[in-house]
Amino acid sequence: MQCKELIIRPATEHDTAVVREIETRAFGRNEEADLVDSLVIATVPTISLLAECDGAPIGHILLTEIKAPLRSLALAPLAVVPEYREMLVGTQLVRAGIAASSAAGFEAIFVLGDPLYYERFGFSVKKAAPFKCKWTGPHFMVMELTVGALAGKKGKLEYPDSF
Ligand SMILES: CC(C)(COP(=O)(O)OP(=O)(O)OC[C@H]1O[C@@H](n2cnc3c(N)ncnc32)[C@H](O)[C@@H]1OP(=O)(O)O)[C@@H](O)C(=O)NCCC(=O)NCCS
Repeated sequence: MQCKELIIRPATEHDTAVVREIETRAFGRNEEADLVDSLVIATVPTISLLAECDGAPIGHILLTEIKAPLRSLALAPLAVVPEYREMLVGTQLVRAGIAASSAAGFEAIFVLGDPLYYERFGFSVKKAAPFKCKWTGPHFMVMELTVGALAGKKGKLEYPDSF
């Protein structure tokens, strides 16, 4: 499928149902849709972005603030519906998520995922090693949003209960 126009925009409360459908279709199960639903209604700050191809919703990314030694977000989930994959929609969602996180004053983004996918954006497994949570390991990464923000930082990460 081709898009004449791909738009990435903030998701609003009116998009709850379409976001749920994107997440469910992308992952083939309900867990990620349930996670998004519980996080966006919680008091914790989130950045939720929707990708639309010629007006049709096809992708979604959520970033949620976590408690950390520096002002940080967790990226999860990232979802593109199957028929629009390999068209850089996921890439554009991640890039827009990074830009929105920087603009909101955050210093770092943590993600659990495939380093082959996320390292292209600047996420690093090595830089995440000093930070401890239940996902610390070979698929856990961090990206600093301002140069040097991670220098000397280490410690515990606390995710909202929904995770
Ligand atoms: C992962 C996902 C968001 C990628 O979306 P997309 O729009 O197809 O991705 P892009 O077009 O921007 O990027 C395509 C590249 O990502 C790679 N890629 C896609 N899915 C990948 C995965 N699960 N692991 C590693 N690499 C992956 C492709 O091989 C391709 O690599 P290349 O550029 O070297 O050829 C999409 O496949 C998806 O929704 N998957 C199901 C949900 C999921 O696993 N989400 C990620 C959770 S962290």
